Amino acid sequence: MGMLISLRDWIDARFPLTKMWEEHLSKYYAPKNFNFWYFFGSLALLVLVIQIITGIFLTMNYKPDANLAFASVEYIMRDVNWGWLIRYMHSTGASAFFIVVYLHMFRGLLYGSYRKPRELIWIFGMMIYLALMAEAFFGYLLPWGQMSYWGAQVIISLFGAIPVIGDDLSLWIRGDFVISDATLNRFFAFHVIAVPLVLLILVVLHILALHEVGSNNPDGIEIKKNKDENGIPLDGIPFHPYYTVKDIVGVVVFLMVFAIVIFFVPDGGGYFLEKPNFEPADPLKTPPHIAPVWYFTPYYAILRAVTIDIGPLSAKFLGVILMGSAVVILFFLPWLDRGAVKSIRYRGSVYKTMLALFVLAFIMLGYLGTQPPTGVKTTLAQIGTAIYFAFFLLMPWYTKIDKTKPVPERVTS
Ligand code: HEM
Repeated sequence: MGMLISLRDWIDARFPLTKMWEEHLSKYYAPKNFNFWYFFGSLALLVLVIQIITGIFLTMNYKPDANLAFASVEYIMRDVNWGWLIRYMHSTGASAFFIVVYLHMFRGLLYGSYRKPRELIWIFGMMIYLALMAEAFFGYLLPWGQMSYWGAQVIISLFGAIPVIGDDLSLWIRGDFVISDATLNRFFAFHVIAVPLVLLILVVLHILALHEVGSNNPDGIEIKKNKDENGIPLDGIPFHPYYTVKDIVGVVVFLMVFAIVIFFVPDGGGYFLEKPNFEPADPLKTPPHIAPVWYFTPYYAILRAVTIDIGPLSAKFLGVILMGSAVVILFFLPWLDRGAVKSIRYRGSVYKTMLALFVLAFIMLGYLGTQPPTGVKTTLAQIGTAIYFAFFLLMPWYTKIDKTKPVPERVTS
């Protein structure tokens, strides 16, 4: 013990170890009323670590070569010791990542966590979300299955819809006239190092911004407004040990569910690993129905909801613009919300109704994006798209006229 203490003192004289431990854990005060929704930040960190570790092990046997990639994944699944587990943890982990992150973002909507002074936490979060989408897209090409190939074909062709520069742009992205070995190699580079590096940096910035202002909470009250004589928030408790221990509960429950999925339904019934992706990529055979993985389908439905050309602008290009706007508009949330209160607990019926409609529209769009388009389904997608955008574009108005309830001085438990 004595030796450990002198080692700590030796380090502290040269590196801010204890200082960082206190600032971010033992003397970082978090609101004492965190609920279920506050598990998902630490769970997102956990899934990020799982993806990086399983990814490193996959890379040891995967071959980023159009002639070898598919067989190398089969080799991992059948011959590498525990390879099937590592691969399923990684492929199911991708879906788990989006489930956790969508719930984490929804918590932000419930409690107004994106609002002043947490705008930058939200912006960094949105940048993480973009990076995560890029990471998933690049990773999906790597097994070189039918859906890898044709999914990438569809997405890259979207860039081709941009007027004037489209053709050159998609050629530049592919590095060839069709998706080929050159495309696979660059996607591999992006997936294993470029994007993960950006993701890690963004996560550090996200948490630094969070620790600068402190967490919001289910009451949407600033705990820093009520401090004791030592400057410690009256409604705060030290993150360590209280929340480090509490988060373990979330981790255990998550790992149980995650294990059940990996061991019993690793392909998520075709939603986590799509059926056509168990066939090797064939540039000469288009699958009858191409759909992205579930976490992209709400946006895919928005893309396909546009069916008419406007002047020289093709429906496809307009769909791309609308789909891009659907993601970009989330960045502006902190400035669209003019409500007098942050938390859903004290909002009026207008916001609650709009949020419920938004969630229903998002889920409906997600479902429609997995389906082949028909007349009725396209109409539903158009209605869903209208609700999606109305939620954001009308927000400055309806959050202002909404009848909010008085917010208590101190957090409730
Ligand atoms: C790799 C992905 C991510 C990781 C590891 C991560 C991590 C965290 C952690 C550990 C917290 C504190 C614990 C908690 O409040 O749950 C947090 C808070 C927060 N995150 Fe994330 N996050 C990620 C993605 C996102 C995304 C995509 C958004 C939104 C676009 C976002 C928005 C927020 C907000 C607004 C808070 C503050 C919540 C509050 O205080 O009520 N995060 N994040």
